[in-house]
Amino acid sequence: MKTKIIKINKDNILPDQLEQAIKLLQNGGLVAFPTETVYGLGADGLKEEASKKIYEAKGRPSDNPLILHIAHLSALSELTKDCPEIGYKLAEAFWPGPLTMIFRKSEKVPYSSTGGLETVAIRMPSHPIAYELIRQSKVYIAAPSANISGRPSPTKAEHVIEDMDGRIDMIIDGGNVNIGIESTIIDITGEVPVLLRPGYITVSMLEAVIGKIAVDKAVLATTPDPSIVPKAPGMKYKHYAPKGQLTIYEGSSEAVIQAINENAREKQELGFKVGIIATDETVSSYDVGTVKRIGSRNDEDTIASRLFDILRSFDKEGTEYIYTESFESNQLGQAIMNRLLKAAGYHKVSV
Ligand code: TXA
Ligand code: MG
Repeated sequence: MKTKIIKINKDNILPDQLEQAIKLLQNGGLVAFPTETVYGLGADGLKEEASKKIYEAKGRPSDNPLILHIAHLSALSELTKDCPEIGYKLAEAFWPGPLTMIFRKSEKVPYSSTGGLETVAIRMPSHPIAYELIRQSKVYIAAPSANISGRPSPTKAEHVIEDMDGRIDMIIDGGNVNIGIESTIIDITGEVPVLLRPGYITVSMLEAVIGKIAVDKAVLATTPDPSIVPKAPGMKYKHYAPKGQLTIYEGSSEAVIQAINENAREKQELGFKVGIIATDETVSSYDVGTVKRIGSRNDEDTIASRLFDILRSFDKEGTEYIYTESFESNQLGQAIMNRLLKAAGYHKVSV
């Protein structure tokens, strides 16, 4: 399949620029597009054959449900059953934006999009290209992250091209996304709302609107525990993983720097290609392999936005061992550490 790649300026979408993408979506095709979190791989979420194609293109296990993307609140009454009051409260506070909510699904939503579940994940994205695509096509776009299953999510069009060129109909290049990690997911189908995946909308932001929430055990796990099955099916798979072995070091800054330098040097002397993820504060202290700067410890937004790009660039360079510092696990740091731990296969060393 030849993949058409078009460039669109998100701040100046010209009339008719989305026309082809809209036609493709309306006819059951696959179109990758930017959102404010990561690039999504979109298809008509209410058409079974269309969403099946997503699973094929990504190599995604069929029990892993998709998020439906909407542009108007009125979609909630169409796609959900017994939408709770807090759904509207959260929508008012955070939509359009990087929050996905799990609702009980209506008859309209096919099981092919929900991995056979009675619930459906819904998000209203704020990115102008994503928003306009949904609004103008009038399609509820099912869109997982536009990566091959298991790889880091794409934050730039070139990441999507790496994974999806030749496998889908179109890629819309709208430049770099701004957040860089996937949306926060909250399940509001039970008595107590449960956080299933941490993201840019943090626990305290959610609690400020709806009061105390629970956090899925799998989100809090810092070691692999086969007895804990995540409530978001996708969170159980090896994910975000670079090809090289990633190890996280935690401890005092000096001890971490020393341990990373020593371990990286050892591997390098054995002939392996090594890489280090450093912060602005520590970058000058590393003297082995390829050192990449992820941002300042005081600027978690930047760290989140660069994480997947750095993991992918180590892949491209054929890096075999990657070493990273650890981050505070609160606020946005909770999402950063969640992705980092999964990318490392929970390989963490305390020094
Ligand atoms: O930021 C995002 O959410 C991006 C952009 C494109 O919107 N999308 C995204 O989709 O990250 P994906 O498919 O990579 O991740 C969706 C997650 C998976 O872990 C999936 O298991 C979970 O949402 N999920 C979807 N429907 C669910 C449901 N009914 N119950 C529990 N978890 C669900
Ligand atoms: Mg994904």
